[in-house]
Amino acid sequence: MGDITEVKKRLREARSVTVLTGAGVSAESGVPTFRGKDGLWRNYAPEDLATPEAFARDPSLVWEWYNMRREKLLGIEPNAAHMALVEMERKTEDFTLITQNVDGLHGRAGSGNLLELHGNIWKVRCTRCRSIEDNDDVPIDIPPYCATCGCILRPHIVWFGEMLHEDVLEAVYASLGRCEMMIVAGTSGIIQPAASFVAMAKRIGAHVVEINLEETPNSGVVDETILGKAGEVLPGLIDD
Ligand code: OAD
Repeated sequence: MGDITEVKKRLREARSVTVLTGAGVSAESGVPTFRGKDGLWRNYAPEDLATPEAFARDPSLVWEWYNMRREKLLGIEPNAAHMALVEMERKTEDFTLITQNVDGLHGRAGSGNLLELHGNIWKVRCTRCRSIEDNDDVPIDIPPYCATCGCILRPHIVWFGEMLHEDVLEAVYASLGRCEMMIVAGTSGIIQPAASFVAMAKRIGAHVVEINLEETPNSGVVDETILGKAGEVLPGLIDD
């Protein structure tokens, strides 16, 4: 169990801080996590649906899953964890927030230097001309078609087996190469490449703190694990 007073002191003194978040940070807003008890949809795991192969096989099925997730996000607000990270950014000279979440809640809360590793559920991309558009139609007509070239649109999300966007990854590695402190909150720590970010930060000597309800594969690598809810622990790290 981490020592909160010591973590707060390190955070106050760190010039450069990188935070990595996962689905657990949105859980208290009411967004289901992927590996929690609500992780399956019609018996499909995310790994069965969030892939280019699943989309090629049955684009409507994949879009139905995203429609369900988009519908669930309606009326959902950022929680105390998102807000604490906005405040942490305000107090830190060099702050980067890397999220695996596609729900857009960090951006809505007001985080500025935000790297959405897996994309954003409110953006769509043409599978042919590759143009990217914002789209908040809920439900979206499925399958949706590109207004420019008429080809099928897909969610602008990085799926299993796909490369992360190069510009995002470059910014991630730059922040991991200079952070003095890293906070990893609400992620199971098993999906690559995010799972390797902790080791990278450790390699350059950053102090790494994990916040989670339970121990994860990251727990053996980080300097300390604080067991608790992100919406309670994170605000506690930035109060004076
Ligand atoms: P997971 O669902 O795998 O893990 C959520 C983690 O959050 C678990 O370790 C929980 O213990 C923890 N947790 C739950 N509620 C919490 C709370 N209130 N406070 C703190 N921790 C809490 O989600 P991710 O690690 O984000 O990718 O999953 C990574 C990726 O796998 C996702 O981005 C998604 C998924 O399949 C794609 O869809 C490409």
